[in-house]
Amino acid sequence: MHNPASGEGTQVLIDTFGRVATDLRVSLTDRCNLRCTYCMPEEGLQWLGKPDLLTDDEIVRLVRIAVTDLGITEVRFTGGEPLLRPGLVGIVEQCAQLAPRPRMSLTTNGIGLKRTAAALKSAGLDRVNVSLDTLRPDVFKTLTRRDRHRDVIEGLEAARDAGLTPVKVNTVLMPGLNADEAPDLLAWAVENAYELRFIEQMPLDAQHGWKRDGMITAGDILESLRTRFTLTDEGDGERGSAPAERWLVDGGPHRVGVIASVTRPFCGACDRTRLTADGQVRTCLFAREESDLRAALRSGVDDEEIARLWKVAMWGKKAGSGLDDPSFLQPDRPMSAIGG
Ligand SMILES: C[S@@+](CC[C@H](N)C(=O)[O-])C[C@H]1O[C@@H](n2cnc3c(N)ncnc32)[C@H](O)[C@@H]1O
Repeated sequence: MHNPASGEGTQVLIDTFGRVATDLRVSLTDRCNLRCTYCMPEEGLQWLGKPDLLTDDEIVRLVRIAVTDLGITEVRFTGGEPLLRPGLVGIVEQCAQLAPRPRMSLTTNGIGLKRTAAALKSAGLDRVNVSLDTLRPDVFKTLTRRDRHRDVIEGLEAARDAGLTPVKVNTVLMPGLNADEAPDLLAWAVENAYELRFIEQMPLDAQHGWKRDGMITAGDILESLRTRFTLTDEGDGERGSAPAERWLVDGGPHRVGVIASVTRPFCGACDRTRLTADGQVRTCLFAREESDLRAALRSGVDDEEIARLWKVAMWGKKAGSGLDDPSFLQPDRPMSAIGG
């Protein structure tokens, strides 16, 4: 196999295990207007300063290099909360002009989507994932430490009305809080034509409070859903490199997904590369190393050199997240700062 450190070779982000990254996650900010207990502390997180953040132009340049020189076909904007980034619509608009045009999506808590969904759709956004863990406003307030449940519901409706398709809902279940809501959430998602995906809680909280034996597993979720629905496994053939295993609900066409990042990791089929809001390439959510593209950008190097550095970074991608390794260490940055 060639070594990308030499800058030669094919125009793709391949790692030493032969996996090729085609899906780029771009964090636009580390800030958020919620404080979900499994992600951020109530206060005390150090925010990136404005000079540390990539500018809108720098983000568009890196996405352009990824798409035109490195084979990226899917771009997902995330954060922190990407709707807090003032230049979001403009960034999407510029990325939609790239050739080949990437498919673009947004992972958001939905607050403010009511105002921006139509503009994002016109700018070229294809689809959206809105995070919502509960149908109960009081539980939402406990879980997110903010009283914004109505805003999220309205944001979801606006996304659907704007024609962002599909509208997916990301849900994390926690014991004693919302674990009993799985069937209600699925009934609600079916009724509203949202595609629900449960995500196992991962050790990415800023407080480092995650405990494996305290988490709700994919097995628990499926058992709970089956008390009310008939689920038919779509099988691995349908899953490809998608992290969610999907089930047809009551014979279909509606589906539900479960992302078993902890109990059934999908690292062998991973097709992702990540860019933090301060311009660091991460090869995995759980990576402990980052590669600094911001410094390279600001030192004035050309696109070819940026592409070479990105390829070198991906060459260092590990076989797996290491969650099951006794020596596993949680990354220094929490999910909100990496980009979920
Ligand atoms: C970090 S958020 C960033 C984007 C946006 N603010 C949002 O709420 O979707 C992305 C996703 O990560 C999920 N998330 C955050 N911390 C997590 C954890 N410890 N385990 C599993 N999922 C987590 C959130 O529920 C959300 O669906």
